[in-house]
Amino acid sequence: MEKILSLKNLKKYYPILSGVFRREVNTVKALDGIDLDIYRGECLGVVGESGCGKTTTGKAIIRLHNPTSGHVYYFGKGIKSEEPVDITITKNFALKRLGIRGKLQMVFQDPTTSLNPRMLVKHIIAEPIKSQERMGGRELEDRVIALLKLVGLTRDHLLRYPHEFSGGQRQRIAVARAIATDPEFIVLDEPTSALDVSVQSQILNLLKSLQQTLNLTFMFVTHHLLVVKYISNRVAVMYLGKMVEIAETEVLFSRPVHPYTYALLSAIPIPEVEHKLGRIVLSGDVPSPVNPPEGCRFHTRCPFAIERCLQEEPLLEAVEAGHQAACHRKHHIEALIAENFGQNWISALR
Ligand SMILES: Nc1ncnc2c1ncn2[C@@H]1O[C@H](COP(=O)(O)OP(=O)(O)O)[C@@H](O)[C@H]1O
Ligand code: SF4
Ligand SMILES: [Mg+2]
Repeated sequence: MEKILSLKNLKKYYPILSGVFRREVNTVKALDGIDLDIYRGECLGVVGESGCGKTTTGKAIIRLHNPTSGHVYYFGKGIKSEEPVDITITKNFALKRLGIRGKLQMVFQDPTTSLNPRMLVKHIIAEPIKSQERMGGRELEDRVIALLKLVGLTRDHLLRYPHEFSGGQRQRIAVARAIATDPEFIVLDEPTSALDVSVQSQILNLLKSLQQTLNLTFMFVTHHLLVVKYISNRVAVMYLGKMVEIAETEVLFSRPVHPYTYALLSAIPIPEVEHKLGRIVLSGDVPSPVNPPEGCRFHTRCPFAIERCLQEEPLLEAVEAGHQAACHRKHHIEALIAENFGQNWISALR
């Protein structure tokens, strides 16, 4: 497998300012040391509760904001660099000169807010193309029409404003804008969460087919595990600014290792899991990312926490090839689940 991006100890702390002089009084540790490789052509699902840092990870990768520390290496094709580029330290003008800016894109959750309401569709889609290359007139219009067709819209939609479309169509426009610069990698940040259930699968199918046609690599951010199961071939589970488990989708759903992953799986609203197995209900709220717990940051809610978990932070380590987890008890998890929640739990996953 060929890497396209590699995140090394990536951190993003947001300052909390207070008082007349806006002094920094504390920090929100939105990302607190992320190590993650993303492979060319894959769809990597990123899951976790609201506030765990999914959007921040996406924004850091495409350099929508600067991380506090750490690195994001981009192994780009068709860019003016033979070597991987650390996009966290490359200045904006250099990103543009190397041809990297348009190669990394993002589609946001809510197209109502992500599309400029005062711009015609034609201009919304043409804008990123014009920022990259000299193109205008007929050539540009033809390119925009071709993009509209790719996302299931037509030339009749060129001269309309975003409010004249349904939510699903607006998300199609946002996707057309994201693919306009011929990207290699797109962060899809909950792209179907704001849509009616009836159109969610249409957008998922569109994304799946575009990924094939355009050889794209996706990072698909969602809190919905069934969506991840459908669209991703690998999944990364996040908790409070950290990756806690990474595995191929099939492995994550059949042989999870982290107690938090079990809790997420138990919350999927499918009859077998709800009725036969019962939920693994986590006690307490998600702790604040301002003061994350010492040791394993999941220990305040974990049913299997032991003394060591309070003292020592578990590292994200290999459980088997291609499967990593950050838990001191990762080799005993099946026995712990069976003992506490019943053997049914394990057999149902298989
Ligand atoms: N611009 C910001 N300023 C301060 N805190 C932020 C900002 N953006 C996000 N956060 C905080 O960082 C944490 C992670 O946020 P986010 O990445 O949006 O999570 P997710 O996408 O998983 O819901 C949250 O605690 C959130 O409140
Ligand atoms: S390290 Fe300990 S507290 Fe953390 S998930 Fe594993 S068992 Fe639970
Ligand atoms: Mg988010």
